[in-house]
Amino acid sequence: MIIRKSTAEIEKMANAGRIVADTIARLHDHIRPGVTTGELDEAAEEYIRSQGGTSSFKGYLGYPAAICTSPNDMVVHGIPNGRTVSEGDILSVDVGVVLDGFVADSAYTFAVGEIAADAERLLEGCQAALAAGIAQCRAGNRLSDVSHAIQVATEEAGFSVVRSLVGHGIGRAMHEDPQIPNYGPPGRGPELQPGMTFAIEPMINAGAPDVYLHDDEWSISTIDGSLSAHFEHTVAVTDEGPKILTVTPNPAETVLLP
Ligand code: MF3
Ligand code: CO
Repeated sequence: MIIRKSTAEIEKMANAGRIVADTIARLHDHIRPGVTTGELDEAAEEYIRSQGGTSSFKGYLGYPAAICTSPNDMVVHGIPNGRTVSEGDILSVDVGVVLDGFVADSAYTFAVGEIAADAERLLEGCQAALAAGIAQCRAGNRLSDVSHAIQVATEEAGFSVVRSLVGHGIGRAMHEDPQIPNYGPPGRGPELQPGMTFAIEPMINAGAPDVYLHDDEWSISTIDGSLSAHFEHTVAVTDEGPKILTVTPNPAETVLLP
């Protein structure tokens, strides 16, 4: 069942989303060659707490950290640790915050220093895929219109969609119905209605779409070792069209919008 939210509830999600977006903006300032993913996790958690929120990831099914940090060929769910990031890496960072009973979830793939042109294209392709998916979050559309738009944008850019991981409904819980695949034919599934709130999150690979789970039972990487990118926003379907909830009001940081 897809739980629709009132305007007041969407406002609460946007308050959580502001903390998520500000956390990602702060991580942007922290990420440089030599920083460890564990240090990024600490900085993120400290900031989230300073704003009165808590991480929606920590403790979720036993997940041990506040954020996920997934470098290069890692797709998602990397556990922050003592490893440093290096010039030329890409690093996907996923942040979820609970505030006042509501969750918001967003991810961003950063370039560490100068990155190769093909890596840059992958990041742009994933952002374009996210933007295409968000644009379909309109009342009257079908859920799979979102999925289809993401797939088309990804494949037009020359990349592949990870099949085994999906976007999701979000609200009082981090994961609500429906599941939102990032591929598929248009015109299927439930009709989108105002008040529905989704985490739209393309995960796309430079090579083949296949992925594997590491022995830590969290980290997921590409089988062929190709680079992977992940961008995510929490979005509400409203009478005025899609409303992105994981944004910061600071105009200087709008570079982080898709
Ligand atoms: N943000 C992820 C998602 O959208 C959840 C991360 S898994 C966790 O599904 F354990 F870290 F929370
Ligand atoms: Co998510």
